Amino acid sequence: MAVTRVWVLNGPNLNRLGSREPDVYGSLSYEQLAANVVEEASGLGLQAEVRQTNDEAELIEWLHQAADESIPVLLNPAAFTHYSYAIRDACAMLTAPLIEVHLSNPLAREEFRHTSVVAGVATGTISGFGADSYRLALRALAGLLAQS
Ligand code: DQA
Repeated sequence: MAVTRVWVLNGPNLNRLGSREPDVYGSLSYEQLAANVVEEASGLGLQAEVRQTNDEAELIEWLHQAADESIPVLLNPAAFTHYSYAIRDACAMLTAPLIEVHLSNPLAREEFRHTSVVAGVATGTISGFGADSYRLALRALAGLLAQS
């Protein structure tokens, strides 16, 4: 059986995980998180490619490529979640499932985080479970792909 690819795309400041506000985001480094995601995905028969950028334009280019190649996406848009209509519009073009992921629970934080401009074009959202949010999202994606 062919291995299904999934892209796990991460927005600004997530490369600082481990040292960035550990009380909010935990102490796992970005590199450890990425390695865990690849391992978890592989156990589910998925081949994960994990990327991070601080550049909105680069993230949009990746989303266009995912759309063109029908690659399912797990996306932590980070702060772009709350205001980037350009990221939302790129997500709206995707041709395979999109799962929005957050380490923290934005709804339990500052008011500006209560809006996600991405959620309305995502298949679903998983937030608030720390690094486990990514694991849960991979499981949800594997379930979706098995149904289709
Ligand atoms: C985040 C939540 C966002 O509000 C914040 O800007 C981030 C990380 C999370 O994973 O909890 O950078 O997406």
